[in-house]
Amino acid sequence: MKEWEQELYLAVEAIKSRLEILRDGGIHYIVKNNAHHNNTVHVIPEREERLNKLRQEKIGECQRCSLCSQRTNLVFGAGSSSASILFVGEAPGSEEDLQGQPFVGKSGKLLTKMIEAMGFKRESVYICNVVKCRPPKNRDPLPEEIAACEPFLKEQISIIQPKIIVGLGRYACQTLLRSEVSIAKLRGIWHEYNGIRFMPTFHPAYLLRNPNAKKEVWDDLKAVMLEIEAKQS
Ligand code: URA
Repeated sequence: MKEWEQELYLAVEAIKSRLEILRDGGIHYIVKNNAHHNNTVHVIPEREERLNKLRQEKIGECQRCSLCSQRTNLVFGAGSSSASILFVGEAPGSEEDLQGQPFVGKSGKLLTKMIEAMGFKRESVYICNVVKCRPPKNRDPLPEEIAACEPFLKEQISIIQPKIIVGLGRYACQTLLRSEVSIAKLRGIWHEYNGIRFMPTFHPAYLLRNPNAKKEVWDDLKAVMLEIEAKQS
């Protein structure tokens, strides 16, 4: 097979498997030219402006907790202000701290693959963390660091108004759901965060260490895809 034939074949196979997932979930119609098409990035100037204002004026050169003293860059978040799905991780790691962008290291590459497998482009969803600055040696964020940072996440959510939030890993899920239940028990079940459907799943870093858990994560992401399709049709 020539290279272009192989690419075409893979693209058709990917579409086929996505349609099969939707069909098995009871979705038989896809609305054409839907304004919320997975990969259409709509720029909503008012939301962009509010996000910029939040970043520049409210957060600014934040010194609300001790993480500020060791950071290279504050990692605000990235993606579309009209995203229907918001992915929330724990806190930036070393690569994210260097680049000022969320999920750009090894686990970020896996997250990007997961997003693409769902039929979305990374730029069409929104990605951020509970805590915006890197904890030293990637330790868990402390309660006072979360308390200082969570209002900014809440404001990001109220500006973007996602239809669904996907919580990545124990920390993001337990923090946002105010729960002490293990991620193994939380995942795969719909919860709510400030009135928004919230799906907890394993963190991509956990998947890198435990590839067998990919099946469970894919199940959780399929539930998210079905919910998004149902909301659009
Ligand atoms: N892990 C996270 O939780 N967030 C990032 O941005 C990167 C790694």
